[in-house]
Amino acid sequence: MPKWLKDAVFYEIYPQSFMDSNGDGIGDFQGIIEKLDYIRELGCNAIWMNPCYDSPFQDAGYDVRDYKKTAERYGSNEDLVRLFEEVHRRGMHILLDLVPGHTSEQHAWFLESSRAEHNQYSDRYIWTDNWFHAPEGLKHVAGESERNGVYVLNFFKCQPALNYGFLNPEQSWQKGMDDPACIATREALKDIMRFWLDKGCDGFRVDMADSLVKNDDEKKTGTCRIWREIRQMLDDCYPEAALVSEWNRPELAIPAGFHMDFCLDWVGNGYNLLMRDMKNGENNSFFHKDSTRSILDFFDDYLKGYERTKEQGHYCLITGNHDTVRASACLDAQELKLAYAFLFTMPGNPFLYYGDEIGMRYQSELITKEGGYTRTGSRTPMQWDDTKNCGFSTADSEQLYLPVDITPNTPTVAAQEKDKDSLLNVVKAILKIRRENEAFHINENLETLYAKENERAFAYRRGDFLMMCNPSGKEAAIEISPELSKVPEKIYEIGAAAYTDGRFILGEQSFAVWQI
Ligand code: GLC
Ligand code: CA
Repeated sequence: MPKWLKDAVFYEIYPQSFMDSNGDGIGDFQGIIEKLDYIRELGCNAIWMNPCYDSPFQDAGYDVRDYKKTAERYGSNEDLVRLFEEVHRRGMHILLDLVPGHTSEQHAWFLESSRAEHNQYSDRYIWTDNWFHAPEGLKHVAGESERNGVYVLNFFKCQPALNYGFLNPEQSWQKGMDDPACIATREALKDIMRFWLDKGCDGFRVDMADSLVKNDDEKKTGTCRIWREIRQMLDDCYPEAALVSEWNRPELAIPAGFHMDFCLDWVGNGYNLLMRDMKNGENNSFFHKDSTRSILDFFDDYLKGYERTKEQGHYCLITGNHDTVRASACLDAQELKLAYAFLFTMPGNPFLYYGDEIGMRYQSELITKEGGYTRTGSRTPMQWDDTKNCGFSTADSEQLYLPVDITPNTPTVAAQEKDKDSLLNVVKAILKIRRENEAFHINENLETLYAKENERAFAYRRGDFLMMCNPSGKEAAIEISPELSKVPEKIYEIGAAAYTDGRFILGEQSFAVWQI
């Protein structure tokens, strides 16, 4: 386990929209460099940056055309190395986004693979043996190449799947995982990882980490074997490099070699901590004041993954990401404060999506940009201050990557810095508590103290710290057993909380941290 993960708190940057340093309307590496001190002061000491490689941007850069070259709009490879250096100079770390499952249909490998004549890339992607032979159960495209075959997709039409083989090949065109062509794909992936690790990045967030081997079994036996091989490479040659998977199955991802896996609130597990229910759109987010739900909806699922993996890896909570609707679409400022206080005092490494620290709003009316669709509304420019374009860019507003939210009372960093009760200052205060107390750096020490069916208030413990939360609009009382031998000291509160006669009284919409 890389040592720096012990107390890492991540800030996710969507580079297009964070800070534009040269006035062309789009964020860039230099802009990020200029804001590193801001990120550090916020209390985040690590960064995950979404894909920044050369791309036709049909899926915001998740359609990679050249893994070893940065997109010009963000800067050169040298500029990115400078970003790594500036990050390290501040004692921080940075993960790039690794897209192992697919490339852009414009990647040179795919152009070669599409040719009629057999060549070294023919089997880099998955093709059937005939133009009218569709691969059963797999998304695919026919009729676009001179090659006589149909190819498999991983996500959008622009993203053909790389060939890591089939767990149990059944058709002549399906390769086994250890076919030389599939080994070559694996080696190409390792080569890309070494390329950026040698330049100074600190690891990767891995996109669709479960998607490598096709017709894999329920336990993802094939895909896990590949990740274990990759982890071995890191352990041998890059022991301080970290991997976090977009998977949401820590019991598979962590034994497979990931140091961290994301707990994704939106993948249909139904607990909707911060988010709206994706299926029916209902606002039943747990932290919503009027919700009737118990924290057990979340804990029942989360604790299964956590308990099984806590000694080996981190199961990480997020405020949101570039794929989710912003939590502020479901929760008001007070609700967000409680939600973040919870996220940031839980085990694992928290991930804060840019702009969530000020409650940036979800822009539901925007037309899709770069394959974003409903995700576009969560990808608008960061709001720094009340100058032109909220300080994001000096470009004309029509030239911006996406419009800045200039609706009345739009949140900005500058305004919230001045307000001691702002969401931004709550984030800072909680992250400070997390940073300064060792108990929050020990992954295995979570105990649930109080969590009941049909009750809203709940409590949990990490070492000497007790956290209590009452998201409801009514006062609540919590009694924990065994009783405490001394009076706990309240070190932080949102709303009002008190300890009297062995009971904790939690005012409406409150959160408190006690030390014993
Ligand atoms: C992941 C990314 C998402 C992207 C998809 C395909 O889910 O987070 O943004 O569109 O993979 O690469
Ligand atoms: Ca720019």
